[in-house]
Amino acid sequence: MNLFDLSGKVAVVTGASSGLGADAAMAYAEAGADVALLARRKEKLDAMTKKIANAGHHAIAVVCDVSDEESVKASVDTVLSQYKKIDILLNDAGVAQGGSVESLTTQQWDNSMNINVKGIYLMSKYIVPQMKKRKYGRIVNIASVNAVLADKADALVRHVYNASKAAVVGLTKGMAASYAQYGITVNALGPGLFLSEMTQDTLFKHQEFLNTYSALCPASRPGNKGELNGPILFFSSDACSYTTGQFILVDGGFSLT
Ligand SMILES: NC(=O)c1ccc[n+]([C@@H]2O[C@H](COP(=O)([O-])OP(=O)(O)OC[C@H]3O[C@@H](n4cnc5c(N)ncnc54)[C@H](O)[C@@H]3O)[C@@H](O)[C@H]2O)c1
Repeated sequence: MNLFDLSGKVAVVTGASSGLGADAAMAYAEAGADVALLARRKEKLDAMTKKIANAGHHAIAVVCDVSDEESVKASVDTVLSQYKKIDILLNDAGVAQGGSVESLTTQQWDNSMNINVKGIYLMSKYIVPQMKKRKYGRIVNIASVNAVLADKADALVRHVYNASKAAVVGLTKGMAASYAQYGITVNALGPGLFLSEMTQDTLFKHQEFLNTYSALCPASRPGNKGELNGPILFFSSDACSYTTGQFILVDGGFSLT
């Protein structure tokens, strides 16, 4: 028995057009799942979906803004009409807004909370009912090491990001407690630093930060492409049938220092 085999499962991935979400979508497909890729940018989404299909797997692209209830509802309907069920939900979509409580506009605050937190609430609101009926589900929420760690350097102050990612961990625990009785596990991951669209022009351009991160991090480096996939697959598979409400930091030990 392969505990990590996802053959016959249907996985929905938000934020699948780039970065960690796109990598996870390919990993799900390689593990045997049919994948629905959700994000706002149609061209990027179509390109990633084609890449997965060209590798011989089933994948569909569904344009979705996770912060918009009508868009989420329509997207979930589209996935269900295509695949008939949803076994796995990876809530990866997110934005990393910089700024302090003094500098952030209320619009920036609301936008971050709407994508990073409300997006998970909305996706779950429309997917959990059919998971409950089928008594099976795996929900994986991408939080961040910034849910529990912060930095005082001006270039790295991200108060709404800290708040939103801590909220993701709280939401994960609440949902886990409610839905374990239905065979649904809900867990969260806290990536440390990984190269992606989100970080390539910000943190990866900040040499002092990169040097400090690598010096402090026991692994002495940022995460490599694909290094979040193992924990994602664990939380998405039968291997985690009795593991719920957990928050694992995937940071090369950065949070230990
Ligand atoms: N890269 C890192 O170092 C790092 C570290 C910790 C946490 N994270 C988290 O990982 C997740 C993925 O980030 P990434 O680094 O791959 O960056 P990324 O910018 O490449 O990916 C974010 C994805 O979310 C999508 N998205 C944003 N707003 C959306 C919306 N309203 N509706 C639908 N999709 C939307 C983007 O289009 C993109 O596909 C995020 O939640 C991020 O906070 C990343």
